[in-house]
Amino acid sequence: MQPALLPRFIVLLGPPGVGKGTQAALLEKALGIPHLAYGDLFRDAIQRKTELGCLAKGYIDKGELVPDEVTIAMVRQRLAEPDCQRGAILDGFPRTIEQAEALEAALAEEGKAINVVLYIKASEETLLARLAGRWTCRRCGAVYHSLFDPPKEAGKCDRCGGELYQRPDDTPETQRRRIQVYLAQTAPLIDYYRRKGLLVEIDGEGSIEEVQAELMRAIEASRRQIGDEPEAK
Ligand code: AP5
Ligand code: MG
Repeated sequence: MQPALLPRFIVLLGPPGVGKGTQAALLEKALGIPHLAYGDLFRDAIQRKTELGCLAKGYIDKGELVPDEVTIAMVRQRLAEPDCQRGAILDGFPRTIEQAEALEAALAEEGKAINVVLYIKASEETLLARLAGRWTCRRCGAVYHSLFDPPKEAGKCDRCGGELYQRPDDTPETQRRRIQVYLAQTAPLIDYYRRKGLLVEIDGEGSIEEVQAELMRAIEASRRQIGDEPEAK
């Protein structure tokens, strides 16, 4: 594994089902920086029936965004933890301009900044096919697809043996709503980050391995730009 040198903050931007979580888990292993998955944090809170979980459930079940003030406070807290000092992969945050501005401010307070925003793109047809076949491990959160990335044994996680389930927000109606919410509230971030010179567009139509290779190339290019060369082995 290649350890991170400078703090590196990588944002994965893209519509529901494009593969952000799948790719972030692989990047976490490759880069040795934590994967912060905001949807997973909310689902965990819902499962544990915490106050945050009860609040978030009403929004998530409808495919709406959890209010900015809740999400922003969570992110600030998480980024202050020791494992984020060398960087993090942000999956599902920011999703609004207000969240993006709050993230920038939180990092700037520590003398840090986002290094690259990887915008993964795919057609709506691809997104719906991916969401329809997704199975997630109830215990460890690992993600599978019944056709494109099946577990060895149906219904059981390869990694931890946990039970696989289909997310309640993956009903056809909520999927469509999530895509609408993405287009209305999150897609404006594409231009926002393009104007800042941070955006790299990634073709998300390929296989998991092809998309991963493209992401790694973009990350290496961004590291060279900031003079963060990989350490000699
Ligand atoms: P979240 O859980 O983040 O959902 P999402 O953004 O809708 O994205 P998904 O997790 O559905 O898709 P993904 O891109 O991660 O795809 P995956 O890798 O699973 O958020 C859920 C909810 O939480 C939101 O709706 C909102 O309510 C709330 N929330 C979260 N963050 C928030 C924020 N910042 N502010 C406010 N509210 C927030 O892949 C999908 C499937 O495709 C899998 O089965 C996978 O195996 C398969 N697959 C992946 N890549 C490929 C490939 N290349 N080829 C073939 N199959 C593939
Ligand atoms: Mg996800």
